[in-house]
Amino acid sequence: MEVIRKAVLPVAGWGTRFLPATKAMPKEMFPIIDKPVIQFIVEELLDAGIENIIFVTGRHKRPIEHHFDINTDLERHLEEAGKEEILENIREISHMTNPIYVRQKEQLGLGHAVLTSEPAVGYEPFFVSLGDIILERGSEALKEMIEIYNRFGKSVIALFEVDREEVNKYGIAKVKEIEDGVYIIEDLVEKPSPEEAPSNLAIVGRYIFTPKIFEKLRETKPGKGGEIQLTDAMRLLLEEEAIYAYKFEGKVYDTGNPIDYLKTVFEFALQREDIAGELIQHIQELISKQTQLIDRS
Ligand code: G1P
Repeated sequence: MEVIRKAVLPVAGWGTRFLPATKAMPKEMFPIIDKPVIQFIVEELLDAGIENIIFVTGRHKRPIEHHFDINTDLERHLEEAGKEEILENIREISHMTNPIYVRQKEQLGLGHAVLTSEPAVGYEPFFVSLGDIILERGSEALKEMIEIYNRFGKSVIALFEVDREEVNKYGIAKVKEIEDGVYIIEDLVEKPSPEEAPSNLAIVGRYIFTPKIFEKLRETKPGKGGEIQLTDAMRLLLEEEAIYAYKFEGKVYDTGNPIDYLKTVFEFALQREDIAGELIQHIQELISKQTQLIDRS
């Protein structure tokens, strides 16, 4: 069985749900308090033992490259200012990974982004992690996926349960449970309506693929939204190879749209000792003012 060493992170998207904030700033660099979303995704992979990170980038995505690079000026400044703790943290980020950046010249869809990474991946199994979603204890989920891959030698995707009304935001899977928490995929649909959806099990944005996916991506025609969809390529893959699924039971933090992003920031803030107390007090004050206003009207 080939060892999984590489991960592809597609980060070339426009971030239209966050315009105008994303006009010049990648959404992957949005902070969850003081750490950019993309760093959570990279740390999750590193903690699961995946060290080779391939970013599929595009125009306007340079800040991501800078984030994982050495910034000697900043380091010198922090050194001179005696800010040891943050200096150590900044150095750690610079040495976290030796990334590869592949440029997706046109944004033709998630499937196309993954296909763009083929020369950097080569003919070996690999992870794909999407940056919109942060998973609670994500590295443990990835380790479970690796274990399933090691047993079956085939692609593995992570699924999670969503409300019926939300199925149109995700790729949805029809599955058969083969053992506790392990499933085999029978069919997949990208963003179906609640009536069309074969289940409420959604693709959470963590995948392990055999390299055969590249062959299938080349055959994939534009699908939902006129884009080359990864889910459609997986459907083609299913005709030749089994795809397994792991059901993720932990908390899913979405950062891909303003309201869910805010909720995520808020939940992370509540877990921070240095922030939680003051934040709760502030919110309580806001709520009581709001309630007084409603009572008076
Ligand atoms: C993508 C995938 C979808 C998956 C989702 C997870 O959609 O196409 O199958 O369920 O990510 O976040 P996007 O959110 O990029 O539209």
